[in-house]
Amino acid sequence: MKLNIALLPGDGIGPEVVEQAVKVVDAVAVKFGHQVNWTFGLTGAAAIDEVGDPYPESTHEICMAADAVLFGAIGHPRYDNDPKAPVRPEQGLLKMRKKLGLFANVRPTFTFPSLIDNSPLKRERIEGTDLIILRELTGGIYFGERGRKDGGETAFDTCTYTRDEVRRLAKLGFEMAMNRRKKLCCVDKANVLESSRLWRETVQDMEREFPEVTVSYEFVDAVAMRLVQWPSSYDVLITENLFGDILTDEASVISGSMGLMPSASIGIHTSLFEPIHGSYPQAAGKDIANPLATVLSAAMMFEDAFGLKKEAALIRDVVNQSLAEGLVTEDLAGNNKAYKTSEVGDWLAAQVSLATGIAA
Ligand code: IPM
Ligand code: MN
Repeated sequence: MKLNIALLPGDGIGPEVVEQAVKVVDAVAVKFGHQVNWTFGLTGAAAIDEVGDPYPESTHEICMAADAVLFGAIGHPRYDNDPKAPVRPEQGLLKMRKKLGLFANVRPTFTFPSLIDNSPLKRERIEGTDLIILRELTGGIYFGERGRKDGGETAFDTCTYTRDEVRRLAKLGFEMAMNRRKKLCCVDKANVLESSRLWRETVQDMEREFPEVTVSYEFVDAVAMRLVQWPSSYDVLITENLFGDILTDEASVISGSMGLMPSASIGIHTSLFEPIHGSYPQAAGKDIANPLATVLSAAMMFEDAFGLKKEAALIRDVVNQSLAEGLVTEDLAGNNKAYKTSEVGDWLAAQVSLATGIAA
């Protein structure tokens, strides 16, 4: 199969972690007889520096022409304390989401048996956690009407949703639940917000299309609490953009390592795969960042964008092997030897090449 992949390394540790995923994907392609065509695109602060735009048109064209996008991270500390900066790297991310129609952000949260004690939460609370937060990504307050009035003394941001936007996201949630434990939780604030009432009403109307799925409706504040009290009780959660932003960061803590969690953003034109961690500027260029989240994002890409399940499974296998054998970066090494980002990437790619018993 021909795999046309747009490669957007971005800022900070993005380029380093993406490089390791490329090694692994290339090794998988050789093993299974696929042809990968990588096309590099500029994004984030790196793109602002070069062309003055964090998501330039040239990068958009590369993404539109690709079957999938593999993305690192964007963000640069030089913008963090400058609220008046005319262009910011994050704007590139929002523009990319909107222009590529990346309407659904899929963030799985699961635990790795060997790392369960890395979590700040007690083992007995998190054991067995395997949930997906499906966050709406191109609507809501992130993209609503905003502005200032009263001579700049009043500011407003509006949360707007259409029934179609809710339906599109919820449909994906129901379908995912059907392939899993058949439980769907609609997270909203319908006791206060009109947009939440539209969410609830829309999801309620869809229940009859998916009679096997058990649907619950919970307020976002209660979910924030239950996520750390009893995360294994959830299967698929669907929610609007801002609630999803907050809950997915919260959920990432459960697994005990930000450096391990992959994500996918499902789009109208193409889909994008990226680690959930950010650009981690303190570690940039030091060859110490954990590449596993990006490598696992590449596994999601094989499965979700190309329907190649064996390839995805092999990547997950070698990642589990690296965790079991302690071939890990300093964030996971504890008192044992810490390996470099590039060493972990080389090792994973080699393990892929060595794997036996796999039908090409
Ligand atoms: C995320 C990030 C972004 C968001 C920022 C960087 C704009 O926090 O991907 O979750 O809020 O969506
Ligand atoms: Mn976020």
